[in-house]
Amino acid sequence: MPRIAVVPGSFDPVTLGHLSVIERSANVFDEIHVLVVHNPGKTALIPFADRVQLISDSIAEAGIQGRITVTSWSVGLLVDYCLEVGATVLVKGVRSATDITYETPMAIVNRDLAGVETVFMLPDPAHQHVSSSLVRQVASLGGDIRPYVPAAVARFLRPGE
Ligand code: PNS
Repeated sequence: MPRIAVVPGSFDPVTLGHLSVIERSANVFDEIHVLVVHNPGKTALIPFADRVQLISDSIAEAGIQGRITVTSWSVGLLVDYCLEVGATVLVKGVRSATDITYETPMAIVNRDLAGVETVFMLPDPAHQHVSSSLVRQVASLGGDIRPYVPAAVARFLRPGE
């Protein structure tokens, strides 16, 4: 049985930290589904379909495609998607103790709901400080986001640079 893991998130936008977690996950599990999930608690910058395309482009440009599927999920629970595709693990990137505190209740609920386990994955330390919200803020104020995001995202958010 292949071990299928889902890497879920808003990915608004996907960052180099996310990419690092996706790559590490692919080294641990047989199949990875990167899943763009609508987070009603957040105001989106990038349209849903574009986020999927940007992740696909970023993975291709990083040369880590193969065994990685990128898709989205906007109806029902995250674990419903996991059950549908036979995924037994969720991978969440964590940068700090704050992230772990935020993620822990969700991990317990997802296990209660469907027996899906959560694995916390550290990104490359070089990207430990990078978050999508920081990138959105820097981009909206006209700053250079290239150190924090894959080239495909930089081109999308700052065309012409
Ligand atoms: O990148 P984000 O915004 O931190 O990702 C959060 C996300 C999408 C993983 C989270 O909002 C989520 O798990 N949403 C799915 C809704 C769900 O299934 N909730 C019940 C169990 S926690």
